[in-house]
Amino acid sequence: MSLSIPRLIGHRGAARHAPENTLSGMRVGALQGALWVEVDVKITRDGVPILMHDDDLDRTTTGHGPVAAMDFADIRRLDAGSWFAAEFRGEPVPTLAEAIQAAQLLDINLNLEIKPCPGREEQTAGIALSMALNLWPTDRPPPLISSFSIEALSMAKVVAPQWPRGFLMDEEPADWADIADRLQAATINIDAKKQTAESIQAFRATGRPILAYTVNDADQARQLFQWGVAGLFTDTPKGLYEGLIGKGS
Ligand code: G3P
Ligand code: MG
Repeated sequence: MSLSIPRLIGHRGAARHAPENTLSGMRVGALQGALWVEVDVKITRDGVPILMHDDDLDRTTTGHGPVAAMDFADIRRLDAGSWFAAEFRGEPVPTLAEAIQAAQLLDINLNLEIKPCPGREEQTAGIALSMALNLWPTDRPPPLISSFSIEALSMAKVVAPQWPRGFLMDEEPADWADIADRLQAATINIDAKKQTAESIQAFRATGRPILAYTVNDADQARQLFQWGVAGLFTDTPKGLYEGLIGKGS
């Protein structure tokens, strides 16, 4: 199935407006007009795929220590909302299954970023994508599967070969084009602040759409679109739409 990439993708939901990687974050991203939201996926000690960015629980929950050292039942008791704002108190850490269901209700698509805890790269992609494949409705467009981990993307190619893969980069390796070919990547996902017109041109020359993270400023967004970037990850779909189009009355 072909990929229809929207201009703005809610980053971790809508990370400026709601706690990241929660169902409320997805809801707020959708309400702000994001047609896709990006979420980070990792697995608990007992192998349950959940949404969480960090390897440790400390920053975004009331828990402590590595995600990989705690079972889902214990992670589920934590509060993943109150660190952000009192109104989100009691927000749980969602499972990937709940996120897939919420995306259907919200009528949005997902970019599932596989974010393995160290040493769990293949396992995370294998478990999360097998589950996602079972749950994903066949009448909806496929999710985009991305990762900084080449091991995770290689596993995605085995487990869910029909789903598009985004080669996500931080430090861009010299052989990035070969890696993208090997992974049969559908998109190239890059750090917006490191780019120039020339670098975008080089990525575009591979024929792949380019997605750039994380852009919250309208001038930067305009520049990137002008250079030919297809879509932007933003913490504030609302703020960026207003900056690009106007606030209205
Ligand atoms: O997928 C784009 C972006 O989310 C990558 O960086 O650290 O926010 O997951 P990070
Ligand atoms: Mg991410």
